Amino acid sequence: MKKLHIVAAVAATIAFAAQAQDAQIDRKVADLMKRMTVAEKVGQLHQLSGRQFTGPTSSAYADKLADIRAGKVGSMLNVTGVADTREIQALALQSRLKIPLLFSLDVIHGYKTVFPVPLGEAASWDMEAIELSARIAAKEAAAAGIHWTFAPMVDVARDPRWGRVMEGAGEDTYLGSRIAAARVHGFQGKKLGATDSVMATAKHFAAYGAAVAGRDYNAVDMSEQQLHEVYLPPFKAAADAGAATFMNSFNTLNGIPATGNAMLQRDILKGAWKYKGFVVSDWGSVREMVPHGYAADLSDAAVKAINAGSDMDMEGYAYTQHLEAAVKAGKVKMSVLDDAVRRILYKKFELGLFDDPYRYSDPAREKTVLNDSSHRAAALDVAQKSIVLLKNENKLLPLSRDSKRIAVIGPLADSQRDLEGGWVVQDNRARVVSIVEGMRGHAGKAEISYAQACAPGCATTEGFAEAVATASRADVVVLAVGETWDMSGEAKSRTDITLPGQQEALFTALKATGKPMVVVMLAGRPLVFNTIADQADAIVYAWFPGSEGGNAVASVLFGDYNPSAKLPITFPRSVGQIPLSYAQYSTGRPVTDEKNVVYKSAYIDSVNTPRYAFGHGLSYTDFKYTGLTLSSPTMTQGQKVSLSFDVSNSGKVAGTEIVQLYLRDMVSSVVRPLKELKGFQKVHLKPGETRRLSFTIDRDTLSFFNSQLKWGAEAGDFKLMVGSASDDIRLEGSLKLTQ
Ligand code: GLC
Repeated sequence: MKKLHIVAAVAATIAFAAQAQDAQIDRKVADLMKRMTVAEKVGQLHQLSGRQFTGPTSSAYADKLADIRAGKVGSMLNVTGVADTREIQALALQSRLKIPLLFSLDVIHGYKTVFPVPLGEAASWDMEAIELSARIAAKEAAAAGIHWTFAPMVDVARDPRWGRVMEGAGEDTYLGSRIAAARVHGFQGKKLGATDSVMATAKHFAAYGAAVAGRDYNAVDMSEQQLHEVYLPPFKAAADAGAATFMNSFNTLNGIPATGNAMLQRDILKGAWKYKGFVVSDWGSVREMVPHGYAADLSDAAVKAINAGSDMDMEGYAYTQHLEAAVKAGKVKMSVLDDAVRRILYKKFELGLFDDPYRYSDPAREKTVLNDSSHRAAALDVAQKSIVLLKNENKLLPLSRDSKRIAVIGPLADSQRDLEGGWVVQDNRARVVSIVEGMRGHAGKAEISYAQACAPGCATTEGFAEAVATASRADVVVLAVGETWDMSGEAKSRTDITLPGQQEALFTALKATGKPMVVVMLAGRPLVFNTIADQADAIVYAWFPGSEGGNAVASVLFGDYNPSAKLPITFPRSVGQIPLSYAQYSTGRPVTDEKNVVYKSAYIDSVNTPRYAFGHGLSYTDFKYTGLTLSSPTMTQGQKVSLSFDVSNSGKVAGTEIVQLYLRDMVSSVVRPLKELKGFQKVHLKPGETRRLSFTIDRDTLSFFNSQLKWGAEAGDFKLMVGSASDDIRLEGSLKLTQ
């Protein structure tokens, strides 16, 4: 009991200290705002991109540098490094009130050390690894003068035509919510204001991942029930984790641009969720309300955006040009302007920038942190945990080091830049370990040969003959194919998500040699590769694995690391199946037998099942699931039920299994998906080891948003499922909620 009292006392002390800091900062903000003119207030809401502002080109931007000196700019993005941030900050401190700038950057999956792209990290289902990745990205960015990253992107996405699936956590609300919190904790560390932390940004608020037809920047149309059930929870998780800022999104939501959407930003975020941070627009999204047809001109856009809760205007020039006049004309209340300014100044005080505007810009620290070798080791660890073993026929993998000759072939086999993926902010490709380099470093006595076969993108086939000859001289072939780094990310929607160029033809040419073949797939999204899926002996999906990518791939192929990752997003058989998610509905005519689909919810030219399901991922060992029990077959108000079962490693090598818990509400006032992920656990087991695991089922587990948007559970029957993938359920149980 004594320990509990101590814990409670410590918690109370921390809460009290936080309240005291809040009150102290509130006083400082209020005092400063009393002294600010309307123009100076508007200046805090204006964010400029500054990649080109320093150095010899700065003369071309003399007017913008003058604005910074005049206190007309509140934040810059794309200024990096201690030297440049110091130079620009010094300009801001020449302003009348010496209000420091916030420096921000898209540190999405690393600053100098590049980690796997976020969708790849999500495949690890490993919250500690994901938090570590963000933690190291924050340390490196903060050491380089950055205060604020525009990450994590928490958009649920179920359409791989949309290139930005690469930046998020995939298709699932529950997994995405857990990952959102892990990334916010990683970026922000224990306390905002520490000089190894950066402010996080939950983006893009909201529902950007549901752009019609997977076409970037396109409209989004959905019921409010779907918005609340599927797309908002990861944002709520980020807010609950303390995300310092939100970024809104380019899309309209049910006809209203997110940037001008008071329902999102005022009613939900700042109202129901009581969010105290600030909202930055996306790049020019305030200005874009004019082409959207929602604002008549830039002045109208400025008024609509700030009244709807967009606090800072990124590169839109709407606030800086029109907000002062709008306030004077009474179109924007001073209280609305003051609320936005207060939120931004609060963060500047919280980061300690008024005490020392250069505290993040220490040249000695920059040098030490950016050369910390432990960061590479972490990047390798996270990359290994992200690689998914999709197929392993005849146990071709792991490769024996006694394989005398291994041919590593393909357009991406020796690429460095492609392994980093999109959204990298420094040119560190020279530090990337390519797949060929990684294989050579892990091969032991085996001889590694290499043939590129074609350039990245594989537009031509003239190198195929040499590649086939190289393969013919080998005992086993490792083929590295996929997208180039710039085929996914922002503004990279594709109508055809098959392998670019002649890569499948290359596979077929190599297959004809009869050599066993492992395919290493590199991409920022699910791709369609049915020939390879049917005919390759083994396939690993490495996403874009980052600076240590080649070592991560090689360690998996040689079995130094037993793959444990699981897909965070469904892989369709064809683009025609999209959107396709495991969390689909039964319909009134469900397909129960693929041989009998006449007048069922099905296609006449394809089965409904995906190529690879959400949660799919193999191991070099096998896992058995037995002995499911429920602490009670029924649940009443306020009661919890424990679901337990055994997992055993029935194979010959140690391995890690990601056990997944799914649930179906059998009858409800709003139809529920056939299965919903409600929990998962990663468990490492030695050969022959058995572990008894359990999940706690409470009322929240059974709850959903009904048609009145009320969150709650309804009495009735629930099917509980435990498995190794959404299409590999191993144990089932039934639970009745009695009231
Ligand atoms: C981009 C992206 C956003 C990014 C911002 C700043 O257009 O939509 O995710 O943070 O601009 O680069």
